Amino acid sequence: MKKWLAAASLALVPLVVVASEGGVHLDRAPNKLRDPEALQRGAQTFANYCLSCHGAVSMRYNRLQDLGLSEAQIKSNLMFASEKVGEPMRVAMAAADGKAWFGATPPDLSVIARARGADWLYTYLRTFYRDDSRPTGWNNLVFDKVGMPHVLWELQGQQVPVYETVKNHETGKEEQHLVSLKLEKPGLLTRVAEDGGFDQTDYDTRVADLVNYLVYMGEPAKVKREQIGYAVLLFLLFILVPISYFLKKEYWRDIH
Ligand code: HEC
Repeated sequence: MKKWLAAASLALVPLVVVASEGGVHLDRAPNKLRDPEALQRGAQTFANYCLSCHGAVSMRYNRLQDLGLSEAQIKSNLMFASEKVGEPMRVAMAAADGKAWFGATPPDLSVIARARGADWLYTYLRTFYRDDSRPTGWNNLVFDKVGMPHVLWELQGQQVPVYETVKNHETGKEEQHLVSLKLEKPGLLTRVAEDGGFDQTDYDTRVADLVNYLVYMGEPAKVKREQIGYAVLLFLLFILVPISYFLKKEYWRDIH
């Protein structure tokens, strides 16, 4: 029995190694779920830059009123003229076109934050780089050979990969390893830092807002749910515990 266990655990080792090899470091997405203005900006970026290819059918436009947007604002800033506010955020493009144009159908993004996690999305949207071997001219650090072009490139600018030559000790051959990305051409949100380098803070903020909106879409009730959770805990602590204590005293009074 023990031998069998040892063999089974050994069999798992290569898997773990493979998993950690392909892993790119993920940057931590700032949590802004309690910041309605950040979520509104995220919704706007989503409507302007993503909705042409991706839908979010579990999200109805009028639900955006929960974020503090008025119906008029939603209509004039976020919607195509033909839609009504009670409708879900449907994709503008036909699925078959997506497949033909990009080699893959852009998935619905309603629950993408639950599938990928906020940190993955935050890193993904900031690590597109130029790659002439790809049909779109773009590749991505966390999604190798991705079918999606860098739709935010005007805002971010263009990044190019930086390679390092490493000798493979097993084969003796030299290999190119992608070690980092460098901003080659600045975008609309790029600022020039004091030392003359590029400052990407504004782009990072824009992506953070968008990612928070994606998280919000995946579970609009999340913040409320957490608040209810705290309220229940407080109730138990300050109301139920004292009541139980006094009840116990009352019951035992005659016995002592
Ligand atoms: C021009 C069309 C297009 C636009 C616009 C677009 N995407 Fe995509 N997206 C795609 C395609 C195509 C894929 C599928 C890529 C693949 O599977 O190789 C994709 C994939 C993705 C994925 C990965 C899904 C997965 O498989 O886990 C995410 C996340 C994503 N897009 C987010 C966004 C966001 C956020 C925006 C807006 C800023 C956006 N996309 C705008 C075409 C687009």
